[in-house]
Formats: sequence, C-alpha cells, structure tokens
Amino acid sequence: MPGVIDIHVHLREPGGTHKEDFSSGTAAALAGGVIAVLDMPNNTPPVVDRSTLDQKIEIARQKARCDYAFYVGASMENATAPVIDPHVAGLKMYLDATYGPLRLASLAALLGHFESWPRNKPIAAHAEGLSTAVIVGLAQLYDRPVHICHVSRRSEIELVRRAKERGVHVTCEVTPHHLFLTQDDAPSLGNLAYMKPELGTQADNDALWDNLGIVDAVASDHAPHTLEEKQSDSPPPGIPGLETTLPLLLNAVHNGRLSLERVVELCHDGPARIMGLRPPDDSYVEVDLDATWSIRGADLLTKCGWTPFEGMTVYGRVRSVYLRGTRVYEPGKVLAAPGSGRPLSLA
Ligand code: NCD
Ligand code: ZN
Ligand code: ZN
Repeated sequence: MPGVIDIHVHLREPGGTHKEDFSSGTAAALAGGVIAVLDMPNNTPPVVDRSTLDQKIEIARQKARCDYAFYVGASMENATAPVIDPHVAGLKMYLDATYGPLRLASLAALLGHFESWPRNKPIAAHAEGLSTAVIVGLAQLYDRPVHICHVSRRSEIELVRRAKERGVHVTCEVTPHHLFLTQDDAPSLGNLAYMKPELGTQADNDALWDNLGIVDAVASDHAPHTLEEKQSDSPPPGIPGLETTLPLLLNAVHNGRLSLERVVELCHDGPARIMGLRPPDDSYVEVDLDATWSIRGADLLTKCGWTPFEGMTVYGRVRSVYLRGTRVYEPGKVLAAPGSGRPLSLA
C-alpha cells in the first residue's frame, strides 16, 4: 500500500528532546509505515517566526529519516506577518488550552490570521467544543480551507458534516485513540489515557465511526511525554502513536470495520489532498494483513517507550518500507540514516 502520510506529529525538537527528537521520532514513523510527517510548532521555543523556523529546518535536514514538512504556529505577533516558506504546509492555531504555550486568545489576532494567511495553504486548528463552531464559522465567512485537528465528539463531527454539506471548505482528521479507546478505558490506563481532546464516551466513539465517510484523514497526534512526566501529579496531555496507527487500522480491516481501500484514503490520499502535498515517488509499505502481534511499549522506537495500547493483540504488521526507491525499513530494523529524509513537495 502507499506509505502513510501523518499530518499531525509532535517530534519535540527543539526543546523536548528527552521526550523525542527528529531521529528517534522519524525512526518510529518508518517502523509504523509512515513515510512523511507534518511536524507541529508547539516547541520550546514555539515555531512562530523566521529564526525558529530556520532552526527547525536545519534540525530536520540533519536528523529526519522520513520526509517532512512543518506547520508554523499562529501567535499574537505574527497575525499580520505570515511566515511563508516552501517547508511550511500550513498555519496551526490553538483555540483551546493544550500542551505548550501557543494559544490564540484574541479575536483581533484570530481575524488577522484569517485575513493574511495565504489562501492556498490550510489553516489547521486545535478546536474543541464551542471553538469548533468558531472555526467552522470563520471558514465559511472567509471562504477558505480550514482543517480541524483531532475531531473527537459527536457534536463536533455532526457540525463538520453539516458544514461540508453546505460547501464550507472544512476538512477534518480523527486520531486512532479516539477511534479505538473511550472513557471506559481511562480508569485502567490512569494518566496514560490523558490527552487533548480527552477520550470521548461510547456515543462519541459511535458517532466518529458512523461519520467516518466524511472524515478526510486519520492522523496520529503523536505527542510523546516520558513515563515519569505522565505519572507525575500534573501530567502533560498527549500520547505516542506513530507506530500503532497503521496496525490498529489494519486490525480494524481484519475485524471487518474498514476496507483496506478506505485505510489508504484516510492515511495517504486524504492527507496529501487536504494539505496540498505531493507524496514522494516510489514509496510504499509492505504489510502482512494476517500477521498477529502484541503491542509492547518496550518494543517501540519512540523515545518515550510506552503506549496506551500495551498488550493489545492486533492483526496487521508492517513488513518493509520503501522511500524514494530505497528500502528504509525491514522487520525490526530501520535502514534509513538520520538526514536521509527530504522536505515534501508542496502544491
Ligand atoms: C499535544 C502535545 O503534547 O503536544 N498534546 C495532546 O494531548 N494532544 C498537543 C495537542 O495536539 O493538542
Ligand atoms: Zn491539539
Ligand atoms: Zn497534537
């Protein structure tokens, strides 16, 4: 199948390399059948201007093992001075509190971004609950592409459905954790189940599955934090996901909940379409749909070394990954060197 393009990934560099870095995070990507990632801007310091973007471009050039592009963060300061660059796929705005300092809390700044961000590149939003209505309303008012990250609630997905039916240029992604976990799993997982948006009810989960036909992409929201941080009294929100997204979806294929064609649309075609990406040539993943294995945090390549899916047995395993004609992953082994990843071509 075509390699996965994951449009929502936090590789944590700079500023959080004890959680993940570009080398470990892109190794995890390849092990999960992911050939390209879009990295988020909520770093320390956040990527909001030319110098922080240049720093990230240089880190990726030296350390990425898969292909990549970036989001720039929407701040108060850059609202009328968009940071435009061939490495930047979109603008990321945070309308609600989550991990990191980026949060857009001013209407003037919000409108400034909608007026000045190039119309051919999407604005991607972390918007929960009421903020979803704000962002859908602005997409309609400005008649421009807006992408809603990690939709997780019945009311949110129903709103997106209505907006799409009305021709509003809105797209959305869902995460594997909101598809395969609910609040019922939270007690046994403790802080490891804490992420933004938080796990939904069974009714929310049912609504995501019932409306999967209007979902444009599955994205991991790979957001690693160390076990020590997660088990502290004030755990940060976020869970890793790069290595489990495709296996969980293939397991759903095995269970008859999805077709393989739909997995390809959600993980490859949709991501490329909504973010205006040209997928790398000669790149694909060999998967074994009948292989069964148990997910173990200790076996994962993500630096954080844990997963909320610990012990789950799934059907579907990544065998080999090819990127631009070269084999970059074989069972149990990443073959791509740091620095061999390339910037994605953007439309
Ligand atoms: C993300 C993180 O840790 O960077 N956390 C999360 O719970 N999803 C931030 C985000 O995507 O909201
Ligand atoms: Zn978010
Ligand atoms: Zn995220």
